[in-house]
This record gives sequence, C-alpha cells and structure tokens, in this order.
Amino acid sequence: MIWILIILSSVSVSVALWPAFPSHIAGGIPLTGRGNFKQVTGQQRNTFSYPKGPIIPERSQVNRLCNCKNEVQAVDARIRSEHSLVERLQIKVDDLSNIVYNLRSVVQDYNLQDRRNVEERLSQQFGQSIIVSFSARVRANKSFLGPTAAIVFDEIIVNNGEAYDPYSGVFTAPVDGVYHFASTVLSGFNSTIETMLMVNGEEVGRMFSGAFLSRGSGTNNVLLNLKEDDEVSVNVFYGNGDYVHGLWSTFSGYLINPLY
Ligand SMILES: *[C@@H]1O[C@H](CO)[C@@H](O)[C@H](O)[C@H]1NC(C)=O
Ligand SMILES: *[C@@H]1O[C@H](CO)[C@@H](O)[C@H](O)[C@H]1NC(C)=O
Repeated sequence: MIWILIILSSVSVSVALWPAFPSHIAGGIPLTGRGNFKQVTGQQRNTFSYPKGPIIPERSQVNRLCNCKNEVQAVDARIRSEHSLVERLQIKVDDLSNIVYNLRSVVQDYNLQDRRNVEERLSQQFGQSIIVSFSARVRANKSFLGPTAAIVFDEIIVNNGEAYDPYSGVFTAPVDGVYHFASTVLSGFNSTIETMLMVNGEEVGRMFSGAFLSRGSGTNNVLLNLKEDDEVSVNVFYGNGDYVHGLWSTFSGYLINPLY
C-alpha cells in the first residue's frame, strides 16, 4: 500500500515535471494508454523527494505519462483556440479603429466645408481678398459737433473690404468675427473733448482729450466680438466737447478672425 502511494507520488511529480523531461526519456516511451489524470496537489508535491540518478519510468508511470500527453494536447488545443479568439478580436479592434479613422476624416471634411462656406461668402463680398481693415483720419478741424455726433474720419488711409464709410464715420461688420478698433482724438487748444467707441449706439470705451493752455489727445483700444452688420463708430460723449483737431485724430479697425 505504502509502495503504491510512493509510486503515485513520483508519477504525479513526473507529470508536473513533464515539460522539463529530457527528450530522450519522453521520446523513448511508447505513448499509449488512457486514464483519468488527476491534478497534482501541493501536499503530494511536498512529500516527494526527487530520486537521484536517471529516471527509469515503470509501467504505471508510462501510462500516467501517456495520459499526461493527452492533457498537454488538450491544453495546447485550448491555447490555440484562445489564440485564434485573440486574433479575431484583434481584427475587430482593427475594424473599429478604421471606423474611428474614417469618422474623424468625415468631421474634418465637415469643418473644412463650413470654413470654405464662410471664406466663399467673404471672397464674394471682397473679391479674392478676405482682408477687412481700415484706417482713417479727420481731414480738417471740426467744430460745432452734435451732443453724440459720430466723428467723421473722412480721409481714408486704407479701407480693405470697404466696410468703413468715410461719409458717416461708421464701420459695418461684414461677417461675425473678432475685431480690433483703436482711436485717437486730439482736442482743441486749451479745451477738452470726451468721446466714446460705440457699437450699435452702445458705449464700449471712453476717451478724454484736452490740456491746459495746450492740446491733448485721448486714445483707446477695444477688441469686439461682432455680429454681421454691427456698427462701430467714435462719437462725442454726451455733449462734453465740440471740437476735434484735424490730421491728428484717427480711427482704425480690422478683422482678426471670422467666427463660424
Ligand atoms: C486746425 O486749426 C489750427 C488752428 O487752430 C490750424 O493751425 C491747423 O492748420 C488746422 N488744421 C487743419 C487740418 O485745418
Ligand atoms: C484756458 O482755459 C481756462 C478755463 O478752462 C480759461 O480760464 C483760460 O482763460 C483759458 N486760456 C486761454 C489762453 O484760452
């Protein structure tokens, strides 16, 4: 009985060591016979001491080794089937990443089309150029201005896009966008004038110009997000002054970028 237990134990360990078996041992054994292979437990492994010298398997061990081959083949088959599952999953992942890639290019095309539409509108309005920028100054001294009169900077320096009207002093935004405006107003001698940057009649920036026994200039800058057709101008600040000095007073603006 004890002898059988020892044999079983050694077989179990041999099975556990199967992949490490020298090939001449495994190769020399006729691998036939069937039986139920039982899992090697830790207890069995612990009670067995590996024999010194070459391992010469006995008949029952040979049967065990044959069963072990079946087990190895079964494990091998499982590994192969799992490997093919991994391969199929990899193909699915590749397919999905292709879909994402295609969707991204669709979105890019869409954005590009949107941008082209705006650029087309701009180029229809301004020929080949989408530049919107102007600079103008007051040609002659102006006096007797109304209480909130627009100051007419009537001498054009540049007017790319013709969005600034030198007869009314009003800039009209041709497209939605971010714009920059700047103005400098020089007062009359020993007098003051207050002015303001206005969008559609609403004040967005103030300037004070004046000096004692001299002339003084006020200046301001503003960035604006404008909608198409918004109007920007420089106006007298509610009657606080009625004179603007010619050639020294300017109004400039330009489109930084359209807003889609
Ligand atoms: C504006 O008036 C001043 C005198 O007050 C004169 O010296 C100057 O030449 C005038 N400027 C223009 C552009 O007419
Ligand atoms: C300058 O203005 C002050 C008041 O603003 C006035 O009292 C003075 O007479 C003025 N001087 C000249 C030379 O116009």
